[in-house]
Amino acid sequence: MKTLHTIAELREAVAAAGGAPAFVPTMGNLHEGHLALVRQARQQADAAGGGPVVASIFVNRLQFAPHEDFDSYPRTLQRDAELLQATGCDLLFAPNEAELYPEPQTFRLHPDPALADVLEGAFRPGFFGGVCTVVLKLFNAVQPRLAVFGKKDYQQLMVVRRMVSQLALPVQVLGGETARADDGLALSSRNGYLSAAERAEAPALARALRELAAQVQAGARDFKAQEARALAALRERGWAPDYVALRRQHDLAEPLGAPGEALVVLTAARLGRTRLIDNLELPPLR
Ligand code: PAF
Repeated sequence: MKTLHTIAELREAVAAAGGAPAFVPTMGNLHEGHLALVRQARQQADAAGGGPVVASIFVNRLQFAPHEDFDSYPRTLQRDAELLQATGCDLLFAPNEAELYPEPQTFRLHPDPALADVLEGAFRPGFFGGVCTVVLKLFNAVQPRLAVFGKKDYQQLMVVRRMVSQLALPVQVLGGETARADDGLALSSRNGYLSAAERAEAPALARALRELAAQVQAGARDFKAQEARALAALRERGWAPDYVALRRQHDLAEPLGAPGEALVVLTAARLGRTRLIDNLELPPLR
């Protein structure tokens, strides 16, 4: 695996490897969830007759609010590079800030508010604008044939899909399943912030999603009441939830409850000082 730090070097390496890469963008501090996305990209590349797999590592300042953890976000490039190499990645793009943002990035994307200003976007204003701006820039640098994004960041996947479709970008966007610890906790770089006691409590978030999903599958259709019950149960356990929301999978709009509708339940909640997100797709309503 080669590590490239500039867009020019990257483009040269991609061309030398045959072009049309499969791409996994990340912010580093990689865990099994990221590596599963790289494996998915590798499989796709091999199924299409070869072609390189590119991963990027860049902690994108534009998607962090001033009070968030941009400065303390774990940066573990050496270890990440070793993991990527062992997982079948061909090229690692690891630009520094001056390479990706040589001047203040005043030209930014403003994604569809109906999709991007709700849920995460309501609690992290500007977050998806920052994500879209860097993802578009990374797509322009890497020029991938396809890109794999984790379903763990479900709303991000939907926003990126909408961006790709509305801007007619020549990239196929694939979703990768969420990797979980044995106790159900969704893997996340931010799990490393949890104390031992918080780590023991953390699987309660995924459990809350499973319970809500089971109630809907059993026929409950008063979605607001279900959400309120889940929020109250989390608060009772000491969490500070931002939202628990049942939404339609494809556009994250409020569900109608019609047969055949495919829903997802999404949540973000703070445990101590750590904010965790998770979600669960439900089978189509009967
Ligand atoms: O999901 C992430 O790690 C980031 O939001 C992404 C897509 C790499 C953009 O910075």
